[in-house]
Amino acid sequence: MDNRLEYTLSREQFDKFEEMAVPFQKLMMQYECAMLEVRTKLEVLNKELSLLHSRNPFESIKSRLKSPESIYGKLQRNGQDFTIENIRENLNDIAGIRVICSFTEDIYMLADCLVAQDDITLIEKKDYIADPKPNGYRSLHLILDIPIFMTDEKKHRRVEVQLRTIAMDFWASLEHKMKYKKDIENAEGISEELKYCAEIISQLDRRMEQICKRIDKKELYSQTGILRTDLE
Ligand code: GTP
Ligand code: MG
Repeated sequence: MDNRLEYTLSREQFDKFEEMAVPFQKLMMQYECAMLEVRTKLEVLNKELSLLHSRNPFESIKSRLKSPESIYGKLQRNGQDFTIENIRENLNDIAGIRVICSFTEDIYMLADCLVAQDDITLIEKKDYIADPKPNGYRSLHLILDIPIFMTDEKKHRRVEVQLRTIAMDFWASLEHKMKYKKDIENAEGISEELKYCAEIISQLDRRMEQICKRIDKKELYSQTGILRTDLE
């Protein structure tokens, strides 16, 4: 997909854009604040859970605001005008957070803890781990609504959170690269190969998780001072 915008504005369109500049900036600031709130919540959970479990529930976290060009492009693809209302009502991924975990179990634990917080409302959940996309894509997607407190008002904004394992992220980056690159030789063959890799990755994630559980069990025994032989 080519994200470049090639268009000329009529006088009327230009006036409309100019009129929207300040409200648009304000809206983007609100999304940025909502993103900060959710990111902080995840970082707080990471701190607490890493103390409890002696390992980090997530390895890394990234956040991004959708660019005005992408917003414009998405609305245009949806056949909608570039208005504040359309952005607010129809786009759920203006604020996006990607959380990369080592294990699938941590993904669900983090998602459950986040959604259970009383200021967060779950708008939508897409579990592409339990139900992968036909191309092999796996991740857990949450659309959350969160209140943000400004100087004189309280606003609710939506944030998209994508949670995936390191292996799933590795796969998605490569697949994304292929999707947006034109003129690839034997694209169909590569898609098949990627799908096969997605299966291997899923097996790998499961086996690594099993190993981790076996190690953790041992650690627990040594921490409590109970020898394995005492339990057998
Ligand atoms: P969008 O219009 O792209 O937001 O799709 P959607 O509204 O159907 O949402 P979905 O939850 O399916 O996907 C949202 C985001 O997940 C995308 O913008 C990508 O970041 C990621 N994603 C979804 N599907 C794929 C995929 O097949 N490959 C890769 N690499 N990323 C994907
Ligand atoms: Mg999107």
